[in-house]
Amino acid sequence: MLSFSFYNSTMTNNNLIQKAETVLNNNFKEDKGFTIPCEGLYPFQWNWDSGFIAIGFAHYDATKAKREIEALLSAQWENGFIPHIVFHNDSDTYFPGPDFHQSKLHPLASKTHRTTGMTQPPVLGFVLKELYDIIEDKVDILNFIKRNIDKVYNNHEHFYTYRDPNKEGLVYIYHNWESGTDNSPIWDDIWATMDPPKYKFERRDTTHVDAAQRPTNREYDYYLHLIEIAKEHNYDDAKIAELSPFLVQDPLFNAMLIKSNAALIELYGLIGNSDDKIKTLKQWQTKAIKRFNEKLFNEKLGAYVHYDLRNEKQIEYLSSSSFAPIFADIPNEERVETIVKTMMKKFGTEDRYLCASFDPESDRFNPKKYWRGPVWINLNWLLYRGLKAYGFYDLSNRVKKDSIELIEKYGFYEYFDSRKEVKENAGYGGNNFSWSAALLIDFLKS
Ligand code: DGY
Repeated sequence: MLSFSFYNSTMTNNNLIQKAETVLNNNFKEDKGFTIPCEGLYPFQWNWDSGFIAIGFAHYDATKAKREIEALLSAQWENGFIPHIVFHNDSDTYFPGPDFHQSKLHPLASKTHRTTGMTQPPVLGFVLKELYDIIEDKVDILNFIKRNIDKVYNNHEHFYTYRDPNKEGLVYIYHNWESGTDNSPIWDDIWATMDPPKYKFERRDTTHVDAAQRPTNREYDYYLHLIEIAKEHNYDDAKIAELSPFLVQDPLFNAMLIKSNAALIELYGLIGNSDDKIKTLKQWQTKAIKRFNEKLFNEKLGAYVHYDLRNEKQIEYLSSSSFAPIFADIPNEERVETIVKTMMKKFGTEDRYLCASFDPESDRFNPKKYWRGPVWINLNWLLYRGLKAYGFYDLSNRVKKDSIELIEKYGFYEYFDSRKEVKENAGYGGNNFSWSAALLIDFLKS
């Protein structure tokens, strides 16, 4: 077992935990009961951010953890869809806002909340299980789960009904913002198939953060164009599946869904009287894991990759999403060995913090630009949990140590430079970023 004296120091840990709690408390909006990812840059409620944030709150304020989830679910559409942003409030610090997205175009959109018409990696199922494990009052948290679990189930049912045109157990995303890895170089090949107009718009993100750390204006043209196509068809799933130039089976997104399926099976088991739902979840699960391994594994690269469903081919690049299936128990023992070898060879050299978001050996790698290379704490957290569950104790500890060290050295940034040679200002994007704080708490307390 490796020993890392800096994070074993209780004083440092307590100090860090206190700072993390302050970040979360400051970002929590008491009136509406949700947490912004960070001030200015992201002034609304984001779907998967809220999931990770709730895990942090669960360690010291169960009420806030529950309110966070309820606030997100209060904007669920009547067809089970859970949107990627909920615009609980007005703000002029973000583009594109509710007037651009116009979720009301969809007949079953939330009648009470303005939202986007796209979603994000479905973390809620496994987040509910995390809340159950962390929160001490088991009766209270199980009652909370009983009140909310069907909403998450309905969300999964929506995915398998409307986002899986081949009925193969893998769901698609139709927008890069649905992947969570917004400007990953993975999408460059898809952008090359498109020629959107040059839209007139005013970026707000680059007024908060150095443009060198954010997507380009031309990339925003692609992002907006995909939304325009969806809006033209009132966010109709069948039309999007038919027409969107971006239609991708993403290994991170599908791994989150699979992990959440597993969590729902366990939670329904605890609740009881849910045999039909458990049976359906198990059917989805078996089919999904089988197809995932057949379709998304790339032998040559030695890890999972994205599948471009529109153009019927794998997108042959490694990213941190290539390793996320370890979190969801998807690879068998032999395959996980291959994946770990790939990761260590390319991403895990001693001169780097784990885990860069994109292949550091690729010429598309950019160490500062959002999802084109920097380390993200949420992906590290998934990786840590997965590696530990497969018995890679030293490596999982390294991922944990790297995550804590980056935050301790640079602050609660949104993303970090993976190069150890960068000694100053290696924290990028938004500061006082909620999920970095929330998952730091979980790293230190669990
Ligand atoms: C952004 O605006 O960059 C968001 O991450 C989209 O979800």
